[in-house]
Amino acid sequence: MTGSAEGAARGSAHRAAHGSAHRAAHGSVAVTGIAELTTHDPELGTLHDASIVAEAGIVGWVGPARRVPPTDRRIDVGGRAVVPGFVDSHTHLVFAGDRAKEFAARMAGARYDGGGIASTVAATRAADDATLRALLAARVAELRAQGTTTVEVKSGYGLTVADEARALRLAAEITRETTFLGAHVVPPGAARADYLALVTGPMLAACAPHARWIDVFCEPGSPHAFDADEARSVLEAGRAAGLGLRVHGNQLGPGPGVALAVELGAASVDHCTHLTDGDVDALAGGDTVATLLPGVEFSTRSPYPDARRLLDAGVPLALATDCNPGTCASSSMPLMIALAVRETGLTPAEALYAATAGAARALRRTDVGVVAPGRRADLAVLDAPTHVHLAYRPGVPLARALDLNDEPLR
Ligand code: NIG
Ligand code: FE
Repeated sequence: MTGSAEGAARGSAHRAAHGSAHRAAHGSVAVTGIAELTTHDPELGTLHDASIVAEAGIVGWVGPARRVPPTDRRIDVGGRAVVPGFVDSHTHLVFAGDRAKEFAARMAGARYDGGGIASTVAATRAADDATLRALLAARVAELRAQGTTTVEVKSGYGLTVADEARALRLAAEITRETTFLGAHVVPPGAARADYLALVTGPMLAACAPHARWIDVFCEPGSPHAFDADEARSVLEAGRAAGLGLRVHGNQLGPGPGVALAVELGAASVDHCTHLTDGDVDALAGGDTVATLLPGVEFSTRSPYPDARRLLDAGVPLALATDCNPGTCASSSMPLMIALAVRETGLTPAEALYAATAGAARALRRTDVGVVAPGRRADLAVLDAPTHVHLAYRPGVPLARALDLNDEPLR
């Protein structure tokens, strides 16, 4: 939606310019020189020649550049486009090692079935805390350098009580969006029923204090992952422990993941590559976001999901990277936007929405994904005059996070 900057100013100039004593310590800041501002706010729409004023990490005012109120500081972005910071609502960033050989084998014709997860589990268990923390910090820096300002991080490469709890403790150091994924796969050598009892019992008890969400890899087509009954037991145990629900579903083939996620009121079901008409109807009638991860189709050489069909049916959509060593080693939200546009039928504006406001909804967050007074001042600045360049110039490093906060990546 494009609004006239003239009529669209919102927020209090007074509040923006003069905060409380505590806020004054940080000072107010105006971002100026914005050629195109995508807000995703229904009233503000898209503004041209716009400014944003923020204080203490919160947006106070948005409107035309020539009406910007006085502030302590100015950041001139020099005619660039500004969009809400990307919300990467699905990653597996706590891991050691890489699986480049597995990727190369796939590009030579091998199929992905989740079996390679075991090698990342071994490497992750063998790494000490300092090593994992440094790897995580490097990945966070990589995300920010590409415009991501909110990230969800899953466990799932520990698969013992101590290793899963450790992964979540480390993840909680960098984000509030932490997800317990003990039910990633049955670890090698473990009996399925015994492992499920561990996940839903002592492992959940140890992990729940460090997690906001629980997730399960529901994929009956994989010998390593979980079927509908197993996934249901994991999700119900997580809910009883106070966690919100997320599901990995319908990645490798049609399956019960989507229906289960909608039935249990999960915030998001992720992958959604293979959907029946019944799945699409269920998603359209529910409050579960369909999160698409097109980097996975790229990196596993699989058919892409049909985002157009979902959007046309009224399904809420999110886009995320799934950044992990097996199925998508990219941390680039701009790449996901470009793939979603080229391969799944979205327009550049729809893909950007899914990567910001849509992904915020998948995390049940209203403070990010939109640029408007009262929301977090989490922005991505593009070395481009318009957001369209995110898909028009794939692979070019256009986006970077603009840090107007004290606590980035929340
Ligand atoms: O989301 N599909 C399950 N889990 C991850 C991949 C994990 C891996 O292969 O290491 C995913 O694609
Ligand atoms: Fe995943």
